[in-house]
Amino acid sequence: MNKIIIFNWKMNPSSLKEAKKLLTYYKQPTTNDKKVEIVVCPPFVYLSELSSVVSLRSSVNLAAQDIFWEEKGAYTGEISVKMLKNLGVEYAIIGHSERRQYLKETDEMINKKVLAGLKDNLKVVLCVGENLAIRKLGIKAVKNFVRNQLEKDLEKLSSIKHQLLKNLIITYEPIWAIGTGIPARPEDALAMIKFIKSLVVSRWSLVVSVLYGGSVNSQNIKDFIKYNEIDGALVGGTSLKTAEIKNIVKISSS
Ligand code: PGA
Repeated sequence: MNKIIIFNWKMNPSSLKEAKKLLTYYKQPTTNDKKVEIVVCPPFVYLSELSSVVSLRSSVNLAAQDIFWEEKGAYTGEISVKMLKNLGVEYAIIGHSERRQYLKETDEMINKKVLAGLKDNLKVVLCVGENLAIRKLGIKAVKNFVRNQLEKDLEKLSSIKHQLLKNLIITYEPIWAIGTGIPARPEDALAMIKFIKSLVVSRWSLVVSVLYGGSVNSQNIKDFIKYNEIDGALVGGTSLKTAEIKNIVKISSS
């Protein structure tokens, strides 16, 4: 199966000009057998302009960093799935730990977003993962925590038409690995990803792609994606470093 590499720009860069420039570094080597799906998540304000660039270049997909669950109406500051789909945006990250932490997003809110995205045929990238205090309690506590997050974030998943469920992607992102320069050990990430996959099969009868995120760079990406069970990576800070982008795209396409 093709790997999916998602680049999350977070709240960067500061101008459209820089955003357009940055996007040019994501071009994949021209080859007919595309082995990797490259997904770039800029801030909302750049999506419109960048979508016209991306449409010329079939090798890069755009993602939003968040969505709102209602279709339209009096929800100041929010962005709907339809607005994004109409721009040609195919993916959205939902439940990133920074939104859970700084914006106080709850599992209930995240669940509404997951359902709204899937219902309208958006590829939903749901982020889950434990903090350091839980990791220190051991693997059993980590599994319990992630199981609990998934139970809540994926509630009422059976209300979604079966053919749309293939659009669900999960990213295992231990919070202690995000932005710290200290990634999870690949074998630990693998164990959690296997756990998530088997949980989703047994609970929702669904085969789902699961990625790893947290301090991924060109030096370590192969250690994760070499495993068949790890379907790709979510890259944060490194997605702004131009030399790194090219290497990551190259490594993950080979
Ligand atoms: P990082 O971020 O690669 O900077 O650790 C990952 C993320 O925010 O998903």
